[in-house]
Amino acid sequence: GCESSLSITVVGASGDLAKKKIFPALFALYYEDCLPKHFTIYGYARSKMTDAELRIMVSKTLTCRIDKRENCGEKMDQFLKRCFYYSGHYDSQDNFAELDKKMKEHEGGRISNRLFYLSVPPNIFVDAVRCASLTASSGNGWTRVIVEKPFGRDSESSAALTKDLKQFLSEDQIFRIDHYLGKELVENLSVLRFSNLIFEPLWSRQYIRNVQLIFSEDFGTEGRGGYFDNYGIIRDIMQNHLLQILALFAMETPVSLDAEDIRNEKVKVVRSMRPIQLDDVVIGQYKSHKKGGVTYPAYTDDMTVPKDSLTPTFAAAALFIDNARWDGVPFLMKAGKALHNKSAEIRVQFRHVPGNLYNRNFGTDLDRATNELVIRVQPDEAVYLKINNKVPGLGMRLDRSNLNLHYAARYSKEIPDAYERLLLDAIEGERRLFIRSDELDAAWAIFTPVLKELEEKQIIPEYYPYGSRGPVGAHYLAARYNVRWGDLSLEQ
Ligand code: BG6
Repeated sequence: GCESSLSITVVGASGDLAKKKIFPALFALYYEDCLPKHFTIYGYARSKMTDAELRIMVSKTLTCRIDKRENCGEKMDQFLKRCFYYSGHYDSQDNFAELDKKMKEHEGGRISNRLFYLSVPPNIFVDAVRCASLTASSGNGWTRVIVEKPFGRDSESSAALTKDLKQFLSEDQIFRIDHYLGKELVENLSVLRFSNLIFEPLWSRQYIRNVQLIFSEDFGTEGRGGYFDNYGIIRDIMQNHLLQILALFAMETPVSLDAEDIRNEKVKVVRSMRPIQLDDVVIGQYKSHKKGGVTYPAYTDDMTVPKDSLTPTFAAAALFIDNARWDGVPFLMKAGKALHNKSAEIRVQFRHVPGNLYNRNFGTDLDRATNELVIRVQPDEAVYLKINNKVPGLGMRLDRSNLNLHYAARYSKEIPDAYERLLLDAIEGERRLFIRSDELDAAWAIFTPVLKELEEKQIIPEYYPYGSRGPVGAHYLAARYNVRWGDLSLEQ
């Protein structure tokens, strides 16, 4: 009949990402009934493994949501029966042709739609895409390929990768993932802005003093040093995750919610940004630290990292958008590993109330009395607005309190993982949350010059102890623009 089938191939099935994110997300989609009736999942990798062994490997990482515990085991078994393994080389057309044969058996003459998830190192991308597209793409349905960063390491290498991929795929077959775009609160950013009267009118240089995009992790690059050392935190987090959030935050109102309309606005605002100046960047690298009898390693203690590596594990940067809405407003980014906490948040600091009647009731710290909107992407999702409030009582004393939308308290539902939404969108052909190639080029244009300069001048990172708040340089940088970082840790 004309019913279609879906084959999902995870290329690089034994890798970390596949185990931790992709298979669990596929399973979550399955038990939410989001996968089509006829679907099959293939793990593809070089190592020898049987279907049964793949199933055991995958089963270890599957979980059920708290509210979906019923039938969970049964659902898992049904899901695992749809998973198969194929061992092959990433650059062998013959191997992919054999995979194609296997797929055809399961497809049973239905219209075949095929999704390839490339969860492999970047030097394998193009080979795998070539083989998949030449010998394993669908004859009568669609073929789509999901790719993960790194998309090159600067403008030139990224453009070369795009060019190579486009020899075998059209732009609308390529789904470039930035998993931060799949996070619940990042998606909510547009809802907040465009469907509430009270935010959008304030969303400009007139009322906003600065915007902060903060990412921190309380662990180092443990085990990933080999990858990380060639990229560093600016490429790993800022050029993609934080910049994508910034683009959604700062873009003009799109014509509609269609993917092309949204991506047109994102690329426009990113192209309005100035390339970052070396002066506007602070870099750091974590060093070993002893605490409570435990010795936390330095970045360079990692066996896969050269002893004299200057790769930043922390960076702070000031970015500017040269358009009418944002002229002069500093967008400050901060990202680091091996810091004191794990969090990702957006902070919007508003200007002072002109001629505030209550100035003398604030005490000395007027700076602390401006409104601040915080969107806490993770953990413990929340949106809150700091306002000045009268402390109850006969006197007139003000304090800062939060209007707080705390997700755990408001919504009993567990929040889906970013990969669930992104995989579902890719299956449905929804491209809104994927990066178009012109967006990628624009993103690299902002970062490439300063990345080159940091490397050519061999700028020494500021060393900070594992588990600390990071280099003080970040505070000097912010201070230069009259900004104070609004870290959670500074809040009561
Ligand atoms: C990845 C980076 O893109 O994002 C990692 O390569 C980082 O270095 C990870 O740890 C963070 O993602 P999340 O979803 O855990 O915040």
